Amino acid sequence: MLDPPLPAVERARELVATSSDDAEGDAAAPVSPGGYLDLLAGRIPDSTGRAQDLMLSGVVPRIYERWWRPALGRLAKGPLGPSMEGERRLVRELLRLEPGDGATVLDVACGTGSFTRELARVVGPAGLAVGIDVSKTMLARATAFADRAGLRNVAYVRGDAEALAFGEGSFDAVCCFAALHLFSDPMRGLDRMHAVLRPGGRLAIMTSVRRFPRSLRSVESTLGKLGGMRVFGTQELHDALRARGFEALEWQLAGVTQFVTGRRSAPAE
Ligand SMILES: C[S@@+](CC[C@H](N)C(=O)[O-])C[C@H]1O[C@@H](n2cnc3c(N)ncnc32)[C@H](O)[C@@H]1O
Repeated sequence: MLDPPLPAVERARELVATSSDDAEGDAAAPVSPGGYLDLLAGRIPDSTGRAQDLMLSGVVPRIYERWWRPALGRLAKGPLGPSMEGERRLVRELLRLEPGDGATVLDVACGTGSFTRELARVVGPAGLAVGIDVSKTMLARATAFADRAGLRNVAYVRGDAEALAFGEGSFDAVCCFAALHLFSDPMRGLDRMHAVLRPGGRLAIMTSVRRFPRSLRSVESTLGKLGGMRVFGTQELHDALRARGFEALEWQLAGVTQFVTGRRSAPAE
């Protein structure tokens, strides 16, 4: 008789780094009562500011997907920027995912998981979409939404995106939308995203970008600091990805946001 397929959360556990990898993860971490793998064992990392405090609260996750993200996203992307449906289409396109391709994909700082679910639908049952986030309240919503949608190939992990505890080259594609500007050390986050991506795999990021004229930059950085949000310089991410060995970089702007994508270079044959 064939063995029953492993539950998605156990498939995600198999990707957790062991001591032979750069970042050591706890492959024996417990599955929380909410159904996600908790690599932080209840620990709450230091807050990076008010914006992140809201993500850890009970209130914002409840209204996040329907109201908060679409409204603030529209403000940030401007009237001509993509809708939420447009962003979901973009993530598929930027990661070059094909329906049913069976890829293993990672959604970094997944929040309530709207992109994780989209990725799971595209890659199909043989594929796996893993969402990682630090917020218990976001993850509680994310697991409930995925259950309600009947998706069996979605797994959630509670962990720190700046220390992504998955093995080298575990994923065919990685995305990180609306979150890099909240990290205390975004460049460390990029290092880890690069490491967990297989050579030739694609990364897609949506985050902040500096669009104000020089005269208004101090207002912009004061607002950013008050909320604990970083505003990236126009070339900063592009250069950071190139320096980490990403190639075929593409870049689109929408309001005060940027969509950046690239491919992890593969060693020459
Ligand atoms: C604005 S939400 C974005 C959610 C989703 N990616 C989206 O586009 O709607 C930002 C998320 O980043 C998470 N986050 C911030 N810093 C993190 C970190 N260091 N590790 C893991 N998650 C983090 C927050 O908990 C929050 O759920």
